[in-house]
Amino acid sequence: MKEQVRMSVKLRPGTPKDAMQCGKICYSAFRTIAEEHNFPPDFLSPELATTLLSEYLAHPHIYGVVAELDGRVVGSNFVDERSTIAGIGPITVDPTVQNRTIGRELMQHILVRVSRRRFPGVRLVQTAYNNRSLSLYTKLGFAVREPLSVMQGQPLAIQIPGYIVRPTSMDDLDACNQVCLRVHGHDRGGELIDAIRHGTAKVVEHNGRITGYATAVAFFGHAVGETNEELKALIGAAPSFLGPGFLLPSRNSELFRWCLEYGLRVVQPMTLMSTGLYNEPVGAFLASVLY
Ligand SMILES: CC(C)(COP(=O)(O)OP(=O)(O)OC[C@H]1O[C@@H](n2cnc3c(N)ncnc32)[C@H](O)[C@@H]1OP(=O)(O)O)[C@@H](O)C(=O)NCCC(=O)NCCS
Repeated sequence: MKEQVRMSVKLRPGTPKDAMQCGKICYSAFRTIAEEHNFPPDFLSPELATTLLSEYLAHPHIYGVVAELDGRVVGSNFVDERSTIAGIGPITVDPTVQNRTIGRELMQHILVRVSRRRFPGVRLVQTAYNNRSLSLYTKLGFAVREPLSVMQGQPLAIQIPGYIVRPTSMDDLDACNQVCLRVHGHDRGGELIDAIRHGTAKVVEHNGRITGYATAVAFFGHAVGETNEELKALIGAAPSFLGPGFLLPSRNSELFRWCLEYGLRVVQPMTLMSTGLYNEPVGAFLASVLY
């Protein structure tokens, strides 16, 4: 049975025309696994999943691959190639044909591509309660790097004395990239440029220089800071935490406790995984599920 399915699966590059079908599958795949485990879905509607995948399928530095079974779209996977380290996801397979190697093929296709393009490392964020994806990624060479807690709640509307949060402009790009370089060993300038264009990016200034930034304090945004104080300032100033919540490294107990003391709640656990180059962060960070 497994072999028959493998034989008729065809992979091809995604195009903007695939957005609606891939969006529907993305929504139903995440909703199905979330409901099985009593967690909220990653996307609240098929339209939200379709909007994200439309942007991805049209983006010049994000590549999408689509799986077809007997001419019908049954899954997709994406790789964000905007920065030094590639980012995989979202990967989803139609729940009616899951666990029959299609996910493995979609992952392998992307891994061959990033290897040919000589990315030094690849990252992804995995839904911690999904035993299947955890096993699949581990077999494909990924290692668990960081347990994450998705945090959600009312905006805190607080300021951290001495840490000024303001919108980011293109003039701040170099300084932000320097902070990211110090924390992660590489910059994430590609994602930051898009966030500045979208108007979601914020910087933190301390003692007259930029010491942290966030593309957004959200499921789809990352943040870095020289210390936890920068992240407290960014979280404290965020007008909302878009998506299911922001991704806090659970081992950062001091920041985690601070968020809990301010009334934020843990929505679900996730896992940062990577293969290839990975530097243990030096400083504070929030992960992003995609970019
Ligand atoms: C995750 C997902 C993309 C995987 O695709 P898939 O087609 O179902 O998976 P595959 O059949 O290709 O691979 C599953 C692998 O995990 C293994 N596996 C499944 N459950 C397992 C378990 N509990 N323990 C160990 N291994 C397990 C299977 O044996 C298989 O390994 P193999 O390829 O070496 O035989 C798909 O299930 C999906 O869309 N899930 C919902 C959305 C989601 O969670 N996406 C990922 C976000 S992190």
